[in-house]
Amino acid sequence: MSKDRKKIRFTVTESGTIHEIETYIHEYPNLMFLLRDKLFLDDFGECGGVGRCATCVIRLNSIERNALKKDRNEPATLSKLGYTAENIRLSCQLYITTDLEDSQIEILEL
Ligand code: FES
Repeated sequence: MSKDRKKIRFTVTESGTIHEIETYIHEYPNLMFLLRDKLFLDDFGECGGVGRCATCVIRLNSIERNALKKDRNEPATLSKLGYTAENIRLSCQLYITTDLEDSQIEILEL
């Protein structure tokens, strides 16, 4: 198995339901697209991943620290909603990498 096909497993909590997710590196352009596709979420990722709409907000638990770095529009977009915690992220700004392995992700209701 090539390095890029390495399986990545993590859990996602959405409306109280825990989903076991299995994917591989860069299977999707970013985490928002994965969540929208696998969990059939309505009104999620409305801006298509440019970091402006804030309809893809998640909380990351148990994750590598380097996955918590925010850049581009993310801090400004999150602060408009009052989110300043390090582990609150726009899922469209996270790539599918091994940083997500064994993490616990919670989709935040807006
Ligand atoms: S999809 Fe719009 S901010 Fe993430």
